[in-house]
Amino acid sequence: MRRFSTVNKAEVSKFTRAARDWWKPESNTGVGLLHQLNPIRVKYIREQAIAHVKKAPIDPQSPWPLKGLRVLDVGCGGGILSEALARIGAQVTGVDPGQANVEAATEHALGDHETAKNRYICSTAEDLVAQNETFDIVCALEVVEHVDNVPSFIQQLTQLLEPNGVLFMSTINRTPASYLTTILAVEHILRLVPPGTHDWNKYIQTHELKGELEKNGMVVHDISGIVGDPFVTGWRLSHDCTGVNYILCATKK
Ligand SMILES: C[S@@+](CC[C@H](N)C(=O)[O-])C[C@H]1O[C@@H](n2cnc3c(N)ncnc32)[C@H](O)[C@@H]1O
Repeated sequence: MRRFSTVNKAEVSKFTRAARDWWKPESNTGVGLLHQLNPIRVKYIREQAIAHVKKAPIDPQSPWPLKGLRVLDVGCGGGILSEALARIGAQVTGVDPGQANVEAATEHALGDHETAKNRYICSTAEDLVAQNETFDIVCALEVVEHVDNVPSFIQQLTQLLEPNGVLFMSTINRTPASYLTTILAVEHILRLVPPGTHDWNKYIQTHELKGELEKNGMVVHDISGIVGDPFVTGWRLSHDCTGVNYILCATKK
């Protein structure tokens, strides 16, 4: 497949505009929701990595289960996920096309010895493919709904994996429920993220994403919904409710 740029400048600028707020969960930029979702995302990555990483057996009791693994965080923003993965042992590279995001991530990571080794680059998956970089784990959380040329983006993520490498993606399903919650309620009524952050037409249904991954030689092991609410119950994983936010794990054959 020809490599297309996946960068939509208008989408990236939605995030660079608020780059100085990546580590201010109380700000009204929407970043608070990502901070809230992060522990459940990391729990998922940890559990699925223990089940599916083949490079070396992972001790489930280890406080650093990702130790020795090269992990790429595509669309890392200010490094919310990257930092959490470094804390469980990963050797993290984060890439983002937004220069201001990369600067925010770098500056924040330097504040703690556990994250100071994180490598952040103003770049994209397609650039890293061109440089023949490969990783044991690739993560693209809450990114695919902001890119152009989704099939090309997915192909590039899979090319960045070592054989048997593990891919994690999270995004939003294109359903009536996701319109009501993530756009009407979250953007327009509760104002938890700025109106216009999401475009419902760019959301991707679970079977569409699974199909695209399978076309690229991936085996999808699990798709779980991330359900709950920011005010009362917090967030949890659900095998049944994938109609709004979901996260998946796939490996390269
Ligand atoms: C909703 S934020 C998610 C940030 C981070 N992944 C997280 O979940 O905490 C989306 C991020 O994707 C980045 N992005 C947008 N288009 C991209 C592309 N084509 N390739 C890589 N990253 C992209 C944006 O700059 C932004 O930082």
